[in-house]
Amino acid sequence: MSLYEKHIFVCENQRPDGDPRGDCKSKGACEFTTTLKQMVKDAGLAKKIRVNKSGCLDQCAYGPVAVVYPEGIWYRGVTAQDAQEVFDQHLLQGRPVERLLLKKSEK
Ligand code: FES
Repeated sequence: MSLYEKHIFVCENQRPDGDPRGDCKSKGACEFTTTLKQMVKDAGLAKKIRVNKSGCLDQCAYGPVAVVYPEGIWYRGVTAQDAQEVFDQHLLQGRPVERLLLKKSEK
């Protein structure tokens, strides 16, 4: 049983400069997390929607990446500018944002 209606994990992993794997933090993950968290808070939905930072989700080449449960929908390349669309369309209306999806064939 899930404690939240939606639970989104955003990779904020950081690696040393020059690491060939790259990381999500250096590509703007924290700005996405912060923006999304504020939207949830402003909407008074903190008991229903939870936004958490996470460590590496092993999809580094596509970062920043995020995954939404309970449905297990993955996003790639999310930025602060994408947060409103993810919030409105997916977290509120249950319709994943197609253009940002990390598809199984890419994983
Ligand atoms: S650093 Fe974000 S998925 Fe690996």
